[in-house]
Amino acid sequence: MAEAEKSWEKRLAGKPDELTVNFVESLSIDKRLYKYDIVGSIAHAQMLAERKLITKDELKQIKDGLIEISEEIAEGRFSFEKEYEDIHMAIEAALVAKTGQAGKKLHTGRSRNDQVATDIRLWMRDRIEILQTKITLLQKALVKSAGRYTEDVIPSYTHLQRAQPIVIASYLLSFVEQLERDFTRLKNCGSLLNISPLGSGAVAGSTLDLDRKSTARQLGFTDISYNSIDAVSDRDFCAEFIFDCAMIATHLSRLAEDWIIYSSNEFGFVLIEDAYCTSSSMMPQKRNPDLLELIRGKTGSVYGSLMAILTILKAQPSGYNRDMQEDKVHVFSAADTVEACLDVACAIVTHTKFDIKRILAGLNEGFLDATALAEYLVGKGVAFREAHGIVGSLVADCEKQQKKLAELALDEFQKYSNLIESNVYEYLGAVNVAGKYVTEGSAGPKQAKEQIEYWNRQLEQR
Ligand code: ARG
Repeated sequence: MAEAEKSWEKRLAGKPDELTVNFVESLSIDKRLYKYDIVGSIAHAQMLAERKLITKDELKQIKDGLIEISEEIAEGRFSFEKEYEDIHMAIEAALVAKTGQAGKKLHTGRSRNDQVATDIRLWMRDRIEILQTKITLLQKALVKSAGRYTEDVIPSYTHLQRAQPIVIASYLLSFVEQLERDFTRLKNCGSLLNISPLGSGAVAGSTLDLDRKSTARQLGFTDISYNSIDAVSDRDFCAEFIFDCAMIATHLSRLAEDWIIYSSNEFGFVLIEDAYCTSSSMMPQKRNPDLLELIRGKTGSVYGSLMAILTILKAQPSGYNRDMQEDKVHVFSAADTVEACLDVACAIVTHTKFDIKRILAGLNEGFLDATALAEYLVGKGVAFREAHGIVGSLVADCEKQQKKLAELALDEFQKYSNLIESNVYEYLGAVNVAGKYVTEGSAGPKQAKEQIEYWNRQLEQR
């Protein structure tokens, strides 16, 4: 194949410098597009035959040749030579080597510019599906874990200070919501990108009467692009895809951060199974949450890809520019990283337990019931602002006496408001408060159970 003729070398004097070859090649990166490149080429050849630009016999030779090449690549029998610059040229050269004249007709009315734009879209459609499957698996793992903790209360935090009591199930389901938005974002990305640029050529289309709708139909695109200049240079979908990956990474990094904190000795809320922890080369006692730290760290790499793609696209002159070749580096890296993080997150969620005893032991620290007490007073007709002040004073008093609100005697409460009655104790203590939530979407056991039912129904259909 090394001997195969390179038509573009006719224009340039002599051979390219080795530096040139090494610098322009993208084969090492884009060879993973080979399946999509071949599928796209078969559709293009089919259309060329329909339009009588090649014969039926040439079509057969092209198809058979491409299928053979696909098998050779899959089985590791194909030799990738960077002299061919990219996957498109490598496959075409191999086809010409196999079929001669027929292969030389494949590129009729086509440029690598519309070809690569098509390939990435096809690749991305598949990757979106894979990402969505992994998101669903993680959601299912979270819902399953939530099912075990519908009654168990933990503190919620704002500013990382104890805020109000919540059930663990609601906490876990908060991530299911975040992931659901990620799922929808990917779905939207998938429908926006499902447009065929094939037939836009290098930048201006073609003088040959190509049937663009035929290739679009064959490749499962819902429509064709309607401006060739835009079509060869549109990488909006790449930026969007990486943004969607970055949002997933953001959500995973927040879960990771929580559990890194929760697994510390100071908190002791969660226990991650040993198989998902690492140890220290020096300190023999260590059980470290390195996988979670790596999820958190890798989020930085995904953000890097997002910045990179936006910067690559910025201020490029209209039409295709070779800058665009760098898109794949970042699109591939974002997808690979986030897929791996989703797998790891799913395994960790499945293999982590909440230490209910330990949580309960410290649960009534930090006045988690203060807001509910203020709302109790609102129920007695006190204006919220006043109720807020009364409870603030009560808390300050408790702190001085080193007491919890529930440990105050009724007459101590009544010094602050004579509207407080003996039933106030039903509203105090973290567990009691969690049971009192009534608003839709609140973080109590009743709402958590409803949400679990909802998610089970929802996720079962996927
Ligand atoms: N390898 C290139 C890319 O990934 C393909 C298109 C190159 N086109 C060109 N006219 N140089 O974008």
